[in-house]
This record gives sequence, structure tokens and C-alpha cells, in this order.
Amino acid sequence: MPSPQVFAATDGAVYTTSNGAAVAHPLAAERVGPVGPLLLQDFHHIDLLAHFDRERIPERVVHAKGAGAHGYFETTHDLSDITSCKLFTTVGKQARLTARFSTVGGESGSADTARDPRGFALKLRTEEGNLDWVFNDTPVFFIRDPAKFPPFIHTQKRDPQTHLKDADGFWDYLSQNPESAHQVMILFSDRGIPDGYHNMHGYSGHTFKLVKDDGSWVYTQIHCIADGGFKVLDTATARNLSADNPDYGIESLFETIDAGNFPSWTVYIQTMTPEQAENFRYNVLDLTKVWPHKDYPLRPMGKFVLNENPQNYFAEIEQVAFAPSHLIPYFEASADPVLQSRLFSYPDTHRHRLGTNYHQLPVNAPITPIANFQRDGAMAFNNQGARPNYQSSITPLSYLNNKGSIKGTPRDYERAKQHESWVAGAFWDLSEITELDFEQPRALYQNVLDDAARARLVSNVAGHLGGAKSAEVKARTLSYFASVDQSLSDRIAKAIGAPTAKPLAVKPASEAVRFRHGVGAAA
Ligand code: NDP
Ligand code: HEM
Repeated sequence: MPSPQVFAATDGAVYTTSNGAAVAHPLAAERVGPVGPLLLQDFHHIDLLAHFDRERIPERVVHAKGAGAHGYFETTHDLSDITSCKLFTTVGKQARLTARFSTVGGESGSADTARDPRGFALKLRTEEGNLDWVFNDTPVFFIRDPAKFPPFIHTQKRDPQTHLKDADGFWDYLSQNPESAHQVMILFSDRGIPDGYHNMHGYSGHTFKLVKDDGSWVYTQIHCIADGGFKVLDTATARNLSADNPDYGIESLFETIDAGNFPSWTVYIQTMTPEQAENFRYNVLDLTKVWPHKDYPLRPMGKFVLNENPQNYFAEIEQVAFAPSHLIPYFEASADPVLQSRLFSYPDTHRHRLGTNYHQLPVNAPITPIANFQRDGAMAFNNQGARPNYQSSITPLSYLNNKGSIKGTPRDYERAKQHESWVAGAFWDLSEITELDFEQPRALYQNVLDDAARARLVSNVAGHLGGAKSAEVKARTLSYFASVDQSLSDRIAKAIGAPTAKPLAVKPASEAVRFRHGVGAAA
């Protein structure tokens, strides 16, 4: 990454004020005589306090606790049959990247070993602009309608009155929104507590689109598979670590890289044509579903390696700003409504958290020159020089400056064809709960987990749900698990000493409202 240390003094430098003037006695405030009152003229002292008073910026509203490092992405397999992205069509091409891994619900001082999904965010600095992959360590998510996101997050955070985490709110919300069952099953399985930040996989979860310059495109999902495998901590070890070393994840990532054991991942894609999507059992835009491997096999495309620790955590990790809307030509968002909502939310929060010109910070700046008409604003230190302030519409694109000479303005990007895409229907299809919503969590429970893993899942859920006070919330949550698998629910009921419960009443899969995916509708 471009060095944010460019103006930092080297070892042995003379102590200075913030305007670079040497200070003879930095540990002594100027005063009248040896014991008299302090002097307003002591810029060093006043500046020191004033800057200290302003050191904190808002922490991320979610994913506040995290660790990060730098490295590189490399294309290992040519994808030119399905995309015209330059990075992904030349084997051996590399892009420098910055990664940040995080827990979701806790504050910036919370424990790295919490049972929580993990954020898995990468910023790939490509020759066509920054491509951010803002993923999680689970292939699905709790909800599929973005209107549910803020209230959902509130139920996982602190109660407005007690300022305590609230097991009743947690399960009340999830059991009322049963599309969450798949993510909840993964969260309370072994993978709910990864062993540090570098021993886990990352998944796009969302469907994206890979596009070619002839206008053709495929849907895609991305899987970053940890080369060392997905390692987990057992619940007791994680609980002990949260007391003894809440920064376990940050520490182990830093020390692993420091020791030269660079963590690496192999990157795969799944692809689906628009025609396949029409016949897919689930809605291709449904973030609570995976694409079964046997129908949509993983295809290798690249790898990435983390080989450089940050020199300055705040500058390079706290200030890094990832956004699912930071996309590059031929790598596009699908109409998944949660993804569409995220396209807005991240740059919006960056403007609040880091400021209007957040993209100019060294860690966020693309390696490509920026050429547009966004100018000024607080802390504009790359203000695009003398280039004119508007785009000419005459050909060739040019601008007559006030001295009568011609200057260039940014020219339009020449792209062969824009493609059309399907946008209709997603909301209605995604709002209804049917038996379809329990098929994949059931497959996880019945086919992927072994007996011992099933027993740990039961114990993990019971440990949390047992903390809820409301009998109604417990009963509804048991029905929610009964919809996945009756024996799972019965085992949890037994463990928390509650009556057994019947599955939730939902429509059968055959009555799910299905929308056909018209490829030609205008975007
Ligand atoms: P497969 O039977 O082909 O593979 C099972 C997948 O489950 C593997 O990716 C495996 O990861 C992963 N897995 C193993 N243990 C857990 C766990 N505790 N939590 C989450 N994932 C785990 O899968 P199918 O495609 O037929 O899907 C079956 C079920 O597997 C799905 O319903 C889903 O719950 C889960 N799954 C599916 C994924 C997909 O993209 N299809 C991705 C991840 C999970 P690994 O290869 O590292 O062992
Ligand atoms: C962080 C919003 C769903 C992955 C954040 C942040 C916001 C946010 C506001 C803080 C960003 C910052 O301060 O820099 C939302 C909304 C969602 C949503 C509105 C749904 C409507 C998801 C999903 C995923 C995800 C589905 C993964 C597939 C992440 C990650 C981060 C994050 C990895 C941390 C990025 C970092 O390390 O800086 N989210 N989110 N989010 N989100 Fe989401």
C-alpha cells in the first residue's frame, strides 16, 4: 500500500511541535516562573491537549473490533470465458490488498473469541480501481430484506435501558424471523467461534455478476478457502480466552505474520447462468441460501496471501474503508436487495466515520489516478490539481481555460456494451417464509455435522437460550428449531428444561411464490 508513514520522523529525530518546530522541553509546560500559572503562548502544550481531546473517531457501528494486514491477490486461473475484468483474465497478475477481519456485535474493546459471525473484508487495488470484497466467514446471512437489518442488529447489541446484552431480545427477534435459521445453525455450530482471524474461510454470501464486454454475464458467488482449513475454538477455551486474552485474534494474526508464516487462501467461484437461475430451487438473490456444491461446483480463480503487518494500526486498519459498492468494470452487484442496500450504507457511514474525503486517505486511495469533479471538502489533500471543474460535451473532449488555451477534461470510459439485467420481483419472493427456508439448515444438521458436532450445537444453543427469561420466547425458539429438525428441538428443550414444541406453521415449499427471472427487462 502507499506508505502512510511518508511524513513520519525516523529514529533519532528531534522532538517537534505539530508545525515541525523543535521543542526544547516537551515534558514541561511553560509557566510564569518556576511555580506560576501556565502561559497561553505555549502552543506546544495547548496543541498537545487539544489534539488528545480529539483522538477518538466513531467506531464502526457494527464490526468495531478487528485485526488487519496487507498482502497480495494473484490470479491463478483465467476467467476470460466469463468476465472481462483485467485482473481476473491474466494468470499471474497480482494486486496489492489490505484485509480486515472482525467480530460483528461487540464494541472495539470486546473479546475476539465471541460466538459471532466474523467479517472478512478485502480491498484489492487493481489497475481498474479498488475492488472491495466485504464478506463474512459464513456463506449465508440472518435476513434477506435490508429493512430488517438495523432492528436485527439492535437485538444483538445492548438493551436501551439496562445497557446489557439481552438473550430474550436475541431469540425473540430471530424466532420471529425464521429465515435466520440457516445462519443461526452455523453460528451455534463449531464454526461459530473461529480460532483467530486467519484460520477461517470467507464467503461473498451475496450473488454478484461477472460480465464480459460482449454484454453477456453470469451470476457468481465467491469462496475464499483458508489453506490451513477452518479451525475453531471450543466454547470453554473461547470463554477463558475472552477473560485472559480478549485480543487473542489480533495477537495471533500479528504474530503469525511477524514469524513469516504468511496465511493464505485459495479463491474459488461458483457460477450460474441467468437461465440456470430461472430453474434454481431457491431465489438466486436469497442471501439465506447457499448454492449446493454438487450442482454448482467450486471453480478456482486465484489466491491471496497476507505477508505484511501494518506499521500503524489506526492509519492502515482503523481508517480503512471497505464498501461493497467499490466495484470495478465487469464485476457487478446483483439485484439482491440486501446487497443493494449495502451499496449505499458503507460509503454513507464512511463519510460519517472518517469524513467526506475518506477515499483520499492513503490506505483507501486507489492506485489508479482519480479523474472526476469531486473537489474540496474537509481535508482534501489530493484535490485533482488544475484540471477544469466540468466535463465538456464537445468532441474531442476539451476545455478552453480563461487564458484561451485548451486543457483536457476526463474522457468517458469506452466500454463495448452495457448489459441489461433483471430487477423485478425480488422483494415479494424474499418476504415470505416457507418450508424452503428450513431445507438447507436441515441439510447442515443432518448431513454435514457428525454426532459429536450435533451434540455441541445443542449444548451451545441451550447455553444461550437458557439465559432467556420469557417462556414464550423459549417456546417459539424451540418451534423454530423444530422446523429444522424435531429431534434437534427436543434435545435443546431437554437441556433447558422446557416443554417440547411443534414446528412453526409455514407454507409448504410447493406454495412458495416464484418469480421468473426475465433476463431482458431494463435495469
Ligand atoms: P457439501 O456437502 O458439498 O459441503 C458441506 C460444506 O459445509 C463444506 O463447504 C464445508 O466446509 C461446510 N461446513 C462444514 N461444517 C460446517 C459448519 N459447522 N458450518 C458451516 N459450514 C460447514 O455442501 P452442500 O453444498 O451440499 O450444502 C450442504 C450444507 O453445507 C448447506 O446447507 C450449508 O449449510 C453448508 N455449506 C454449504 C456451502 C456451499 O457453498 N454450498 C458453503 C458452506 C457451508 P469445508 O469444505 O471447509 O469442510
Ligand atoms: C461493516 C452495514 C450486511 C459484512 C458494516 C458497517 C456498516 C454495515 C454500516 C460499518 C462500516 C464501517 O464503519 O466502515 C450493513 C448493512 C447490512 C449489512 C446495512 C445489510 C442491510 C452485511 C453482510 C455482510 C457484511 C450481509 C457480509 C456478507 C460486513 C463487514 C464489515 C461490515 C465485513 C466490516 C468491514 C471492515 O472491516 O471495515 N456493515 N451490513 N455486512 N459489514 Fe455490514
